[in-house]
Formats: sequence, structure tokens, C-alpha cells
Amino acid sequence: MAATFRAPGRVNLIGEHTDYSGGLVLPVAIQLGITLTCEPADEIELESPGTAQGWERYVEAVADELAALGRKPVGIAGTIESDLPQGAGLGSSGALEVVVALALCSAAEFEVEPLELALACQRAERRAVGVPSGILDQAASLLGREGSALLLDCGTLDHRWVPLPEDVAILVLDSGERHAHEGSGYADRRRELEAGDPRRVRHVETENERVRETVAALDRGDVAALGPIFAASHASLRDDYEVSTPTLDALVAAALEAGAFAARMTGGGFGGSIVALAEPNRAERVLTRTRAQGWLVRSSAGATRRRTDSTRGRA
Ligand code: GLA
Repeated sequence: MAATFRAPGRVNLIGEHTDYSGGLVLPVAIQLGITLTCEPADEIELESPGTAQGWERYVEAVADELAALGRKPVGIAGTIESDLPQGAGLGSSGALEVVVALALCSAAEFEVEPLELALACQRAERRAVGVPSGILDQAASLLGREGSALLLDCGTLDHRWVPLPEDVAILVLDSGERHAHEGSGYADRRRELEAGDPRRVRHVETENERVRETVAALDRGDVAALGPIFAASHASLRDDYEVSTPTLDALVAAALEAGAFAARMTGGGFGGSIVALAEPNRAERVLTRTRAQGWLVRSSAGATRRRTDSTRGRA
């Protein structure tokens, strides 16, 4: 019996490079994501037409992490499809890990609590590509809710959902610069932070405070307050954490110039995307005037088993 699983990508509203030191993040799961349709099989046999090279490493790493948790080695055979751009800073590897993890758990009737699963997927990321990333992407993909951002304390894993205003458009604009955190400065930054570099530490402390300010502004419906907070976040990522690029800086400026009221780089940096907020009637203008590949994103539910095709294989 074939089953379909879907894991969304995410855009992080604010709380960048704070997850791996136990700080605060505020991601939104989005409508773009990865779908896996499969049935139980002896081995793991997946195809993924159109997905970037190297995706198999993530599948193997997820299977290994779940085996370490006690999952029986039931295989799956099926196809992975994605409408989530890769390398754009939208959490594509996290979504891949999550969708595979859900399918593998389901095939083996192995139940794992969502945050436990997010942690297993985070370990899989490190196992697959050696990147010491945090739990942001996997938690967002698993715990997302339509209409809300997820406020997650990455230290305690306490979380709550923060309702998003309906009259704000969330835009993601891709710089076109491709980041691969393997070989980029991501691991360097983490090391520098852990070694106590004052500027890296200052970024994290001020960024955690900006997450609190953002949540407070959203709770009181004061979206105008988000412009200066996003600007300070971008400046801190550029100057203190040094993960922005001139292209990302220029794209933030272009989005504001085109009518967005808040904009900052999002994700790991070194390329990838920016997130911009605009009044809905200005969203189209921001997308066209910045001339970047862009998406109007909608908040979406977290990863799920979508539907079961019980007719397949029957007479
Ligand atoms: C990447 C990582 C996340 C997080 C962000 C920066 O997306 O996968 O864990 O560290 O960078 O906020």
C-alpha cells in the first residue's frame, strides 16, 4: 500500500545562528516542500529525479540514526519529489531528512515523538555531510503550523506558536549565490562562537533579544516595529557574525527600496536568500522590482503523512 509523506521547507523570520548555542529561533514552515511516495520494501530504494547530487547520503544517515533509536530495518521503495529550491537557505536538506524519517518510521510502525525525530534528523545532517548545524530546520519542518511561526528555545526545546498577522506578505528572495555549508564558514563560525570570540558572542546575545522583541511585536500586532528589528539583525549578521555577502546586502537594500517594510538575510548565509515583509498589495512589486527569483510564501502545517492510496495494487 503506497503512502505519501510531505515535509515543508522553512523560512526563518529571525533568530539566525542562534540554534546551535541553545538560543531562540522563529521559523515558519512554508508551502514549498518535499514529497515522498513509497511502499514498504526489503531495502531502501528511492529515486529522486531532479534532486541535486548527493541526496542519498541524507537518506542513509537518517536510516542509521533511526536504527540507533531501535527502528527495525524495514525498507521503502518510492520516489522523492520537491518544489523546494535547494541551497537557497530554505531548509531543503532538513526537509529531506524529515520526509525520509517519517516514511521509514511509518513503514516500521516505529513511533518517535516529533522533537525526538527532529534531533535524530539533526544528527543525520552531521553524519551525512559533517555540518554541525542546529535543530532549526528539522524542528520547523516537523512542528510548523498554518498561520503561525514557531518560537523554539533550542536549549530547552520549549516552544509555542506565534500567530502571524494576515495582512503581511512574507517574501523570500534568492540571491542566486549558492551556499553549501560543507566547506563554508558555518563550522568556523560555530567554533569561533564556542571559543568566545566577542563579536560572535555579541551577535548571538543581541539576536536572541531581537527574537524576543519580534515575538512581543507580533503579539501586540505592531508589525511596523519589525523593520528596525530586521535591519539590526541583518547588520549584526553582516558585521558581527560575518555570514552575509555583498549580494545579500544589496538584495536587502533593493527589497526595502521596492517597498518591503522589513528585510534581512535568512538561513545560514554565505549566499542563499533574504526574507522580506511587505503589505500584501506591495508584494508583487517587491518581487518584480528586485528582479530576483522570489516566492510569496505561506505558512504551512508541519510534516505529515498526506494520504494513503489504498486502491493501488488491488484488483
Ligand atoms: C542553517 C542551519 C540551521 C541554522 C541556520 C542559521 O540553516 O541548518 O541549523 O544554524 O543555518 O540560523
